[in-house]
Amino acid sequence: MKLLITGVNGFVAGSVLAHAKGKWEIHGIGRSESLANEPELIYHTLDLLDDEKFADIFNKIRPDSVIHTAAMANIDTCQKNKEMAERVNVGITKTLVRLCQESGSKMVFCSTDAVFDGTKGDYTESDAPRAVNFYAETKIKAEQSVLSASDKNVVARLALVMGLPVIGKGNSFLADTIGKLEKGIQVPFPVNEIRTPIDVITLGSALVELAGNQFGGIIHLSGCTKINRYQMALEIAKTLGYSSELILSVDSNAMEGRAPRSNDVSMYNSLARQILKTPMRTLSEGLELTLNFKPAK
Ligand SMILES: NC(=O)c1ccc[n+]([C@@H]2O[C@H](COP(=O)([O-])OP(=O)(O)OC[C@H]3O[C@@H](n4cnc5c(N)ncnc54)[C@H](OP(=O)(O)O)[C@@H]3O)[C@@H](O)[C@H]2O)c1
Repeated sequence: MKLLITGVNGFVAGSVLAHAKGKWEIHGIGRSESLANEPELIYHTLDLLDDEKFADIFNKIRPDSVIHTAAMANIDTCQKNKEMAERVNVGITKTLVRLCQESGSKMVFCSTDAVFDGTKGDYTESDAPRAVNFYAETKIKAEQSVLSASDKNVVARLALVMGLPVIGKGNSFLADTIGKLEKGIQVPFPVNEIRTPIDVITLGSALVELAGNQFGGIIHLSGCTKINRYQMALEIAKTLGYSSELILSVDSNAMEGRAPRSNDVSMYNSLARQILKTPMRTLSEGLELTLNFKPAK
């Protein structure tokens, strides 16, 4: 069985790759050279905006499943570069949806808890999304195209992803935070943003499982701890032995020049706990897992 991972040099993709090893023939697409020193990975260098080359590579691979992690994932960057955010987050996803439809591949799309407006919290898969920023708008449009193409496609809404990168660097706030705390630099965390963070190791395992099982539709991949980002950072600092004085409380919606953020986008993970073999974890369990994770050789 062949698995294609888009954005394979990214943060989430590194864990996906580690969990797919030994189970799938793994193909990965990245823009620059491969960051993974991984003999099992068949690496393809490609800017996914190049539709023709993308179709060419895809049709040579003909994957059974695709885990689509590639995206413009930074909320503020999307707000400032709307045209590019639309092309990457919506355009590339639509191209991939079509290619998967033509070849009968299953598509697992990485969406986000940010599709919710954050006024309610404890969101379930049947709650209606409503965007408060442009990143969320692009993800909602992409979700619709994934779901309307095939019943076997999956929209996996990821909560805030916490962990150390398994390969490369990627978009890891934990790695950035540890780097600053190590130097004694204070780090601000939004007290208004309530999340159900998921560790990157559990997430990689869950996404690989979804690529290979019979589930289709929307699923929330979130941790079992509901917490604001300031409290979360305090817990992490305490576990790692740093002073709590290095963690500062801020309100992200009062910070100038930033895209609006949803307040409470905590998500229930009861569906994930019901249908997946991968257990959903608490913040402390997830932290322990990511700090000690060693990919199989
Ligand atoms: N991290 C989180 O907390 C979080 C939470 C919810 C949802 N998500 C979603 O989960 C997915 C993975 O996130 P992540 O944190 O792993 O992000 P990431 O580390 O930024 O990885 C995204 C990858 O996509 C690649 N990419 C972007 N545009 C591309 C293009 N035109 N052609 C080829 N590759 C391209 C990037 O390549 P370059 O390195 O070359 O730019 C990068 O390696 C994203 O869809 C994100 O929206 C993440």
